Amino acid sequence: MALQLGDTAPDFTQDSTEGPIRFHEWIGNSWCVLFSHPKNFTPVCTTELGAVAKLKGEFAKRNCKVIGLSVDPLADHQAWAKDIEETQGAALNFPLLADGDRKVSDLYGMIHPKANDTLTVRSVFMIGPDKKVKLMITYPASTGRNFAEILRVLDSLQLTANYKVATPVNWEHGQDCIIVPAVPDAEADRLFPKGYKRLKPYLRVTPQPNL
Ligand code: BEZ
Repeated sequence: MALQLGDTAPDFTQDSTEGPIRFHEWIGNSWCVLFSHPKNFTPVCTTELGAVAKLKGEFAKRNCKVIGLSVDPLADHQAWAKDIEETQGAALNFPLLADGDRKVSDLYGMIHPKANDTLTVRSVFMIGPDKKVKLMITYPASTGRNFAEILRVLDSLQLTANYKVATPVNWEHGQDCIIVPAVPDAEADRLFPKGYKRLKPYLRVTPQPNL
């Protein structure tokens, strides 16, 4: 059955540009973004890997490790890394799994045969320190991802894991949040000392609680 939110992220051992990765052990107590690329030496993937390398500090601030995957051999990854540094102005600073045997791609359902028989689609999995899958997004090969959006979702996931709030449309760190409907008003008064606006019984807006 396909992987679903809340499932334990499948564990694996696979080669990478930073040596063999034992996935759960490598994640440790961090959050993790695992993302796949259709193929080495392709233009969109090259731009994505450069962009993620530049954002590594933003992920680190959020206690999140990033790891890429491509179904090509390790020697090709190393050659491609040189191109990434040369063309994107940022060296690969996180591991890129060499999934030539498709072990990880198959475990995570990253190959969608009706899109392409052999190449992975652009999958994004966000995994919590508890090793549970918190988010899955799938893009086609033709569309490069927006990693600012991935950071935005990570902010939301980390906030909503600790407070009884949800984040509204287009929310960004620092903006007002929604009190989850399961919290009665009396409890909301206690949990949200900054107060809240009660637009409807089910729509209560409060300042971001951890600021
Ligand atoms: C790319 O990364 O540029 C790409 C990869 C596979 C298909 C189309 C584009």
